[in-house]
Amino acid sequence: MLVNNQNYRTIWMQDSSIYMINQQLLPHKFEIYQSKNHLQTAEAIKSMIVRGAPAIGAAGAYGLAQAALLYEGQDYEDFKKYVDAAYNALNSTRPTANDLNYALNFVKSKTFVPDSITNSKMRAFEAADEYANWSIEMCRQIGEHGNKLIKNNQNILTHCNAGALACVDFGTALSPIRIAHYNKKNIFVYVDETRPRNQGSSLTAWELANEKISHAIIADNAAGFFMKQGKIDFVIVGADRIAMNGDVANKIGTYEKAVLANENNIPFYVAAPLSTFDSKCRSGSEIPIEERSEDEVLFMHGKDEEGNIKKFRISPQESPAKNPAFDVTPAKYITGIITEKGIIKPIKEEIERFVRNKNQQPL
Ligand code: MRU
Repeated sequence: MLVNNQNYRTIWMQDSSIYMINQQLLPHKFEIYQSKNHLQTAEAIKSMIVRGAPAIGAAGAYGLAQAALLYEGQDYEDFKKYVDAAYNALNSTRPTANDLNYALNFVKSKTFVPDSITNSKMRAFEAADEYANWSIEMCRQIGEHGNKLIKNNQNILTHCNAGALACVDFGTALSPIRIAHYNKKNIFVYVDETRPRNQGSSLTAWELANEKISHAIIADNAAGFFMKQGKIDFVIVGADRIAMNGDVANKIGTYEKAVLANENNIPFYVAAPLSTFDSKCRSGSEIPIEERSEDEVLFMHGKDEEGNIKKFRISPQESPAKNPAFDVTPAKYITGIITEKGIIKPIKEEIERFVRNKNQQPL
């Protein structure tokens, strides 16, 4: 992605450190966070320094490689136990995104070379890097397929941040938008602010501004207004986990956008790599939904007039809050799922066919 006219990935690894764009500070400050061990990486995922399903997957992959690389002992069985414990620590950071578990399984399946800690360490790093590179290519392909849906002069609504920041690069929902823009199509993006953490107004808007793609941030409750006025031609969102019947878990508020799109006869697309499909999950009701701290609802972050980034309370001292981070959009509201292999209808038979045939995938 372009930042100040320079190309960046969201996350990368050098020696045994993992570097990531610190998404807690955007859009006010562009800073790279350095994680020096897998526990710091797990904490970075939990605290959302790095977030978004494919980016969490890459962080998990690199985190496991980091644990392997930093193991200091000489005993192979002990090394295996250490890497297994790191797998569990990373896997338990955020429950909804399927890509995390998928990426961890990929790296783990490639790591162990019997009786050679040195070779196992090398394999772990190579597998994590392969995973991250593969993820970029999947997102680019999603962009190419999704771009075919976008016509000149169209207005697109997106929710949360499913951009390059949510992946290693390109994005999922933002990838077709990026590619349409690179192809000189004139498009306009309505960006839902996405309370409570405002990934739309702080991250998606930041990415679009960097790429000079026309957009406007709208309050979360304004989407229906613009849809009814005929201002939105279609909706594209990302996904954290897709069940085999086509139900999709994504950022809280996605479900109501899908219902509104349906009411207004507006196509509603989900963009996600096949790694987001959970072959063990039959329907949306089986998807674990993360409940995050009530502080995310009760407080906001912003920059004051002196330029200091601050957290401030926006609600009564006595009021508690509830904060489910994701919701599930039933398949019946989804027009199509844009994957690296093409656009899939959200129906069981078609999903099963695609997921069974993901032979290009690392897993
Ligand atoms: O809580 P977040 O910010 O990690 O949630 C992110 C989303 O819901 C994204 O839409 C999803 O992960 C798809 S990212 C390409």
